[in-house]
Amino acid sequence: MVLGRRRGRRPVRWTRAFMFVDNREKARVSMPQGSIPPSVRETYGPQNLSAAEPFAGGFINFGDWTGIPLDERLTRDDRIRSQQNLYRRVLRTLEPTEGRRAVEVGCGLGLGCALALREFGFAEVTGVDIHPQQLERARQATTGAPGVTPERLTLVRGAAEDIPLPNASFDRVYSVEAAQHFRDLAAFARQAHRVLEPGGRLTVTSFFAADDAPATAASLARLLDSYAEGLDVAHSIGGFEAALSAAGFRDVTTDSIGDAVWTGLDRYLEGTGARESWPRNFLRAYSSGLLDYHVVTAVA
Ligand SMILES: C[S@@+](CC[C@H](N)C(=O)[O-])C[C@H]1O[C@@H](n2cnc3c(N)ncnc32)[C@H](O)[C@@H]1O
Repeated sequence: MVLGRRRGRRPVRWTRAFMFVDNREKARVSMPQGSIPPSVRETYGPQNLSAAEPFAGGFINFGDWTGIPLDERLTRDDRIRSQQNLYRRVLRTLEPTEGRRAVEVGCGLGLGCALALREFGFAEVTGVDIHPQQLERARQATTGAPGVTPERLTLVRGAAEDIPLPNASFDRVYSVEAAQHFRDLAAFARQAHRVLEPGGRLTVTSFFAADDAPATAASLARLLDSYAEGLDVAHSIGGFEAALSAAGFRDVTTDSIGDAVWTGLDRYLEGTGARESWPRNFLRAYSSGLLDYHVVTAVA
């Protein structure tokens, strides 16, 4: 299966090197502790999604395009700025951040951790990611980056569902466009609550299905190969909110930002010549009401 096209359609230029190869894994099958789902292993291992054309600058998120003029030609710099801006949007919800200790879950290449240290004054940030190759890339990408020192940035291999960090040892936990990959969001909610001090704060941004109806998951799988092949899981936003409350979080809030994410991304992709493609179908799924991009905050 080729990322970016459905069977029978012509592939677009940037898709050729990137394939979700797992066609056996079922998204909701529980994985043994510490193992990496095959689709995640391939996508963030040999395929290195951060190098695919829809992404840029080492980030791997769809971006927050607020404030970027969409009626002008969108550049690679705009694309990088959109991804940094998604981090800024998340990190602003965690203020005050000065001198605080934070964990990022699903840190990818660690550039969001570096931004948090550089622009938000955290005392230290610990980046957690399930994939050893991502962590190796993160070490390379963040070494010598402004604001990053070995004392302030720690990179740890671990799963969101089994975070290898001590109880009540952090003030802030955040996650950017990674929760759609987590197999067990209830376990993630419990782990995030466990590592936070009482009163500590969590912000998660990602895309979530509109509801738990099997028809919604089936429609997402028809439209988006990443759901069809088990890279993304059709977690509902309501289910995630309920999981946070069940884990002990209070003051759970949800902000819908689908417009700010997918309109700009789609304009950018249009400019790259991508017509029928996996990421462009996200705007279609959002416009059809199947999913939305959310910023979810909660207090431990
Ligand atoms: C779409 S990338 C986002 C990376 C980064 N947050 C960014 O915005 O650039 C998702 C990341 O989540 C990681 N990941 C996937 N499943 C995970 C899990 N269960 N626990 C921790 N990390 C996971 C992947 O290895 C990948 O690096």
